[in-house]
Amino acid sequence: MEKSVSKAIETINQIRKAMGDRLAILGHHYQSDAVIAHTDIRGDSLELSRKISGLDAEHIIFCGVYFMAESAAILRRSGQKIHIPDVNATCPMADMAEAGRVEKTLEILQTNGRKIIPLTYVNSSAAVKAVVGQYDGSVCTSANAKIMLEWALKQGDGVLFLPDKHLARNTANALNVPDETCIILPEDVIEGDPTLFVTPAMTDDKQFVIWPGYCPIHEEFTMDAIKNIRANEPNALIVVHPECSPEVVQASDGNGSTTYLIKYAAKAAQGATIYIGTEENLVMRLAAKYKGEKTIRPLMKSQCEDMGKITLENLASLLENIENSPPVDVSNDIREPARLALERMLEICA
Ligand code: 13P
Ligand code: SF4
Repeated sequence: MEKSVSKAIETINQIRKAMGDRLAILGHHYQSDAVIAHTDIRGDSLELSRKISGLDAEHIIFCGVYFMAESAAILRRSGQKIHIPDVNATCPMADMAEAGRVEKTLEILQTNGRKIIPLTYVNSSAAVKAVVGQYDGSVCTSANAKIMLEWALKQGDGVLFLPDKHLARNTANALNVPDETCIILPEDVIEGDPTLFVTPAMTDDKQFVIWPGYCPIHEEFTMDAIKNIRANEPNALIVVHPECSPEVVQASDGNGSTTYLIKYAAKAAQGATIYIGTEENLVMRLAAKYKGEKTIRPLMKSQCEDMGKITLENLASLLENIENSPPVDVSNDIREPARLALERMLEICA
């Protein structure tokens, strides 16, 4: 073991012990084993959001990507401080929806008097969640996207789902929303001025308008990988995260959130071979856990670089300065509407 790593482990253990209940460390399932070993609570995005209000700790460290820490900062109780070991660990998919462009798009979609309800995947900035809250919309995670889309479709004349086009289409497919009533906005809205690329006429007869973002990690999973497995190992099972393309999701044996994938592996029969299409840290952890009982393999190699930015070293150095580190926070004008959007989700899925 490298000296810097053993020093970091020693520091983390000492400070955790000294701080006791004043500290809680939360970790997303995509974190490395090394980091996961020092977390008090692990979970998917929904589970971690749900835990925040019940925590008594004064300092909460979020080992994950920035939008997760921001969601915690929106839901935190007064006096609680949320931290992330590396503020540069951002989610590229969340970065594909900028709040000003989302708001402008909503304005365009509503110019003909239609009420469009925005539904944002939790992988989005606090500012986007605030816009969504102001427009009577809400948030979803991969674990509750179906319930939340069903809710949103009943609230107005149509829904704007963002930022993930794949989760959007996979959820619409699961609810049998007809293809001809869906439209994916042009990719230019990710970086350009929506007034140049979106018109109300484009979406007049659509009930489901989709922002064109995607996860660069899950987009890598291909049909070729699935065809190969089906041809060579016909008994193997394949399960994927719904951020994969609809083609990949439809060709798999199941899809769902990281918690769904964990439960699927747990329930699979002894001797089963399961290929999992999601971030590799989680897949390899499951492979090690069930070694000798079932064979678990990654559908393809895939690592989320941003999740990997959280390390033992930066966790240790945050802990060393925790009393003086500026916490992750959001301004009140963003926090209140964003909280509304998140709390609508938590209430609907209670
Ligand atoms: P989960 O909500 O399933 O944990 O997924 C979050 C994520 O970022 C997947 O890429
Ligand atoms: Fe974002 Fe994809 Fe990484 Fe999840 S795996 S945090 S969606 S880039």
